[in-house]
Amino acid sequence: MDHFIYRDGTLFAEEVPVTEIATAVGTPFYCYSSATFQRHFRLFDEALDGLDHLVCYAVKAASNLAILKTLGALGAGMDVVSGGEYARALAAGVPGERIVFSGVGKTREEIATALNGGLRQFNVESEPEMDVINSVALELGLVAPITVRVNPDVDAKTHAKIATGKSENKFGIPISRARDVYSYAGSLKGLKVVGIDVHIGSQLTELEPFELAYRKVAELTEQLRADGHKIVRLDLGGGLGIPYERSNTAPPLPIEYGAMVKRVLGHLGCEIEIEPGRLIAGNAGIMVSKVIYVKSGEDRQFLIVDGAMNDLIRPAMYEAHHDIIPIVESVPGTEMTRYDIVGPVCESGDTFARARVMAPLSQGDLIAFRSAGAYGAVMSSEYNSRPLIPEVLVNGDQFAVIRQRPSYEEMINRDSIPPWL
Ligand code: LLP
Repeated sequence: MDHFIYRDGTLFAEEVPVTEIATAVGTPFYCYSSATFQRHFRLFDEALDGLDHLVCYAVKAASNLAILKTLGALGAGMDVVSGGEYARALAAGVPGERIVFSGVGKTREEIATALNGGLRQFNVESEPEMDVINSVALELGLVAPITVRVNPDVDAKTHAKIATGKSENKFGIPISRARDVYSYAGSLKGLKVVGIDVHIGSQLTELEPFELAYRKVAELTEQLRADGHKIVRLDLGGGLGIPYERSNTAPPLPIEYGAMVKRVLGHLGCEIEIEPGRLIAGNAGIMVSKVIYVKSGEDRQFLIVDGAMNDLIRPAMYEAHHDIIPIVESVPGTEMTRYDIVGPVCESGDTFARARVMAPLSQGDLIAFRSAGAYGAVMSSEYNSRPLIPEVLVNGDQFAVIRQRPSYEEMINRDSIPPWL
């Protein structure tokens, strides 16, 4: 459930008509709903009720400071994967002890920054990385709390580009080698082993792969404890999928996920961390765009809109489906038509949807790409020198621009001319 709903035939974001925002900021733009972010965070928080737990929002999904602040104020932790995300989490007021540092290629500089600024733990992905964290910690006279990310070799049954838990993926340490790796970690004086981490992929639409992975983690916990390690924390990653197509069956709910976690891992008495991104942010955001032209092709109609693959890359990159709806609701009984919905970028890949059934639209009409809150703005670029589009956050009957659209001048002025030109 989200807070983008039609009222009197026009789409609202919470209490604000989307047309009002479009008039104020121009199109295209991202529009987020505070209430939806808050609701989704609470769903996870409540789903783990009864367990000692922390929901660490995966910052990569939507990293605007205002979003992090909205979630941080509810007590959310943050899962970060770069020095930049770490800096954002701190800037949003999230204390270091609620920040988990994940990622397969942390640099010395990033490690030092997080150790100096404070963090909950590093999720370590390889032995060379373990050595570097140890050496930086010793240099700084600190001890780095760590988990080791294990790769359980489980098929997440999701798009290949976002599956991470199979042995062919670059992530984690093969679970079969975990005991040796933990024993090595235990010998390093700059590290303190606190738990185990696992993340098998994103947009999972079934609980079974999670359960398979978590059963392996439960078994490993017992083994590592028998080996003398203090395993007090289990980081279970993110990955719960969202219903991108309203017509499809919905993926499991956080409450069902939470019940499974309790069933499979509850007896271990560990603190549970989860790192959801998409489920918190995905349906909390839409991208609003305007029809520039309706163009008749040989055998199809193209809807050329002012948003493009540089603004929302998911369809081009993952063949992802986004529901696309008109801002002015079509009148019941309207005869539908089909459009290929495309952006202005000079690539055929700049296609959002093919043969999409919609009510007829005309030049100047506004449309919304639903479920664009996660991996939308954060993955955008200025390809074709199209300035990054603004982000707007709605809260009840108020809205604010939380990232401005740069002018052409601002965009160009980031380049500099070398002395010989
Ligand atoms: N934790 C780790 C270690 C991750 O790598 C990810 C996502 C998450 C948590 C959050 O997963 P989520 O709950 O959002 O599924 N750009 C792609 C998704 C990439 C996901 C990368 N890792 C997309 O647009 O579908």
